[in-house]
Amino acid sequence: MTTQALPIPSTLIVPPAIGRPGAISRFEDYQRLYQASLVDPERFWREQIQGFHWFQLPKRMLMGEGPEARWFSGGRTNLAYNALQRHIDQGRGEHLALIWESEAVNDRQEPVHIRRYTYRQLRDEVAQLAGVLARLGVQAGDRVTVYLPIVPELPIAMLACAWLGAVHNVVFAGFPALALLDRIEDSGSRVVITADGGWRNGKEVPLKPVLDEALTRTDLVKNVVVLRHTQTPVSWVPERDFWWHELVAANHSQPVPAEVESNHPSFLMYTSGSTGKPKGVVHGTAGYMVQTGLTAQYAFDLRPGDVSWCTADPAWITGHTYTVYGPLLAGASTLIYEGVLAFPDWERVWKIIARHQPRVLYTTPALIRAWMRQGEAAPRRHDLASLRLLASVGEPINPAVWQWFRDVVGRGTAPIVDTWWQTEAGAAMIFPLPHATPLKPGSATLPFFGVVPGIVDPNGVAIHGEGSGQLIIQRPWPGMLLGIWNNPRRYVETYWQAVPGGFNTGDTARRDADSYLWILGRADDVIKVNGHRLGTAEIENAIISVSAVAESAVAGVPDETTGEAVLAFVVLKPEAQDQGAAREAILRAIETQVGKIARPREIKFVDSLPKNRGGKILRRLLRELATTGQIKSDVSTLDDSTALLGGTKPA
Ligand code: WT7
Repeated sequence: MTTQALPIPSTLIVPPAIGRPGAISRFEDYQRLYQASLVDPERFWREQIQGFHWFQLPKRMLMGEGPEARWFSGGRTNLAYNALQRHIDQGRGEHLALIWESEAVNDRQEPVHIRRYTYRQLRDEVAQLAGVLARLGVQAGDRVTVYLPIVPELPIAMLACAWLGAVHNVVFAGFPALALLDRIEDSGSRVVITADGGWRNGKEVPLKPVLDEALTRTDLVKNVVVLRHTQTPVSWVPERDFWWHELVAANHSQPVPAEVESNHPSFLMYTSGSTGKPKGVVHGTAGYMVQTGLTAQYAFDLRPGDVSWCTADPAWITGHTYTVYGPLLAGASTLIYEGVLAFPDWERVWKIIARHQPRVLYTTPALIRAWMRQGEAAPRRHDLASLRLLASVGEPINPAVWQWFRDVVGRGTAPIVDTWWQTEAGAAMIFPLPHATPLKPGSATLPFFGVVPGIVDPNGVAIHGEGSGQLIIQRPWPGMLLGIWNNPRRYVETYWQAVPGGFNTGDTARRDADSYLWILGRADDVIKVNGHRLGTAEIENAIISVSAVAESAVAGVPDETTGEAVLAFVVLKPEAQDQGAAREAILRAIETQVGKIARPREIKFVDSLPKNRGGKILRRLLRELATTGQIKSDVSTLDDSTALLGGTKPA
């Protein structure tokens, strides 16, 4: 297991800030509601779903259990209707829904591109694109791959799919052709939406050319919709490729939103696990919507009129849930930014806050650490008074980083909402209610309504009270995934059979004397680099595709900057002598097959890898060696204890 060095203060409790009228502002109220959600879930959820629009209300809140659990069955709704049209129906059509800023600046250092959309304008764009997609034959249930930079058209594409009941599959614009191809093929997408390119650090990131390369290897895709953004000329396949703006200009029909059943799939999100290729996590409609919309209010206190800035790329689950759907379901305005946050320098982030006045800033410990390294002067120079709530996600937040965030960015008063969840969870699961829950820096605190976390030992035996072990979730929760696309067996095995007693999160956690939860890290072979989730197997597969490589093992090690970093151990074939050339080939293989985000911090060439007698590579030893420089733990199961680092006997 990966444990981050977290000094754990046992009783440091920071008094909560005063909430706005209507927000839960007493800890007893949280406790009462939490109890109610467990004692009578049917009644609890029936009340909680009232604020959403249903074409037909569900009769039962929850049916089935474990992998078969289904929420709000029989209900009919539409995610995009709830995110857009509902607010227009309620008289908020002229409220701001979306603000976009792109990185380019003029000689006075002002951004060149800012666009704003009201709810009505955003709904119109969405309904137009939905009409276009329908003309291309997209129907409810069809998958549409979206490969776009962070531009307004990215949420528009997602919402247009949701409008039709089509299943969006957004692929991170930093992924290479092979990673994109895998996701297109596995999802079975016949339509792909992309752009000529996007902007990153003053340079263009080509997208259409990468898609073209991917599509030379499959004939599945019938149509490509191309957004003109960077204006760079792109190559064209007639009949297959269409400009977004031309299709929209020629479209005269706006379909009505599809009335889909609660458990109709709404999107796929590919994510890494312990083994094999990334898996397509399938999320439904109503359960996802309910937990996303409610947590936007309960965790982030978002209301109509508020601006929210979640720095996550909409292409990841955090971006789906809290850059796009959450703020819109809450009727708030969401801010999106295209490019590098340090462009042209680190001052940019504070300027964005001063310019757009977000109330909420939701980001990752990795970014906060990067801001910390730049010093306090810059944030202190800018007007950050709009910020009332700060939030963190993706990896454990060190108490010192927590404190800096609160003191320097939150002016010592903003609550820090540390949210624990994962791609599979759909929406936040463990977090403090910002105005009610006493905080402990570094702890994600307590579960959301209906969420029952458990801590178990490796045999699945429950640990009650204080203790640490594997984190499981013991009851179904509304935002839970519906399954793994194309792979029902992998779904059941990975999540429901690996650890007895509940849903296997893959994390380890500690419960303290106040029942507060402290996430320690991953228990499996998943590495978190800058909050990105990477599987050791994916990276190893890329490494061994290099002909000079005989064997490889990859481990995650703590890293000051990125949280964890990838360390690759490589055994070269006897005939391969040139380590420099092998290193280059390995880096290239990782970049083209997995992506730049998976680049190892270091590649170590070794004579052999530590294996047990069954031939399984002992990653825990690699991790220990890389972290502490020696191996102290039990090596009795090791096949050859001199295996590491050119035969050096472990201490
Ligand atoms: C893994 C999920 C949707 C969440 C962001 C990425 C780690 C997430 C926290 C937190 C400590 C955290 C866990 C989890 N993680 N939030 N607040 N404290 N660790 O989702 O890519 O599916 O990664 O991120 O290890 O399992 P993801």
